[in-house]
Amino acid sequence: MLAYRHHFHAGNFADVFKHALLARLLVALAKKEKPFCYLDTHAGIGRYDLAHRWAQKNREYEAGIARLWARRDAPALLAPYLDAVRAENPDGSLGVYPGSPAIAQRLLRSGDRMVLCELNPRDKEALRARFARERRAGVHLLDGFQAVKAFLPPQERRGLMLMDPSFDRKGEYARVAEALAEAHRRFATGVFAFWYPLMEPAALRAFERAVRDSGVPRILQLELWVHPADWTADLRGCGMLVVNPPFGFDAEAREILPWLLEVLAAPGSGGQRVRALS
Ligand SMILES: C[S@@+](CC[C@H](N)C(=O)[O-])C[C@H]1O[C@@H](n2cnc3c(N)ncnc32)[C@H](O)[C@@H]1O
Repeated sequence: MLAYRHHFHAGNFADVFKHALLARLLVALAKKEKPFCYLDTHAGIGRYDLAHRWAQKNREYEAGIARLWARRDAPALLAPYLDAVRAENPDGSLGVYPGSPAIAQRLLRSGDRMVLCELNPRDKEALRARFARERRAGVHLLDGFQAVKAFLPPQERRGLMLMDPSFDRKGEYARVAEALAEAHRRFATGVFAFWYPLMEPAALRAFERAVRDSGVPRILQLELWVHPADWTADLRGCGMLVVNPPFGFDAEAREILPWLLEVLAAPGSGGQRVRALS
């Protein structure tokens, strides 16, 4: 139970995909003056030292953020995300990767708030220590699926939830589909982003069916894969479902994903798509 450690994967292509899109969602919410709440149900430790032996084990960041770091032609839409990465590395060399809480911290305004949940007690302590001086953040030792019930709807009535589970136990797709329906029942106008891996094709199809059958409207599906369909060595690709995507978000994703594909995919073997799931 809770064997997963995100530090092994920090800054990999899946993190780049997730955080580039998360940054666009945060930017969109910050366009309206009214404060909002950011809920991170599976928050991790917030920042990752890439020199740490766990990050060094497979050096996944080399096929992820390190490739973007070396480029000067990123679309302007990626600036909020890349600025958040640069802010962690003020000396100009890539040594630290920001997790979703650190990206949100940078894009929240003074009146906004974030609720960070993490079930691994040690990770939660690391997260609490990192955000100890951040008055806008609340850190909770809580099951992310329970967090939907505990924190939605937020008092601000404006909000973004990222659900980014570790998918290291059976039934995670089904739990995410249930959480999507529950989140929408509680807070129909909220913006919700659900990350998922492209693996277990049968479970993935059942997941899409369950999400469609939930009847929740306005779901955008975004996917990026960097290896061919028969790839089993490690993670082939990943996706995100965004419920109630902000105005213009789909057009932004259609600009961002082809560029990420070019930079992150093995030559000739990846792909990407953006489509309405419901
Ligand atoms: C993929 S990582 C999160 C990464 C983070 N969202 C980011 O983008 O930087 C998943 C995290 O969820 C935690 N976790 C696993 N099961 C959980 C649960 N039921 N509720 C909350 N957190 C959980 C793991 O300890 C791990 O830190």
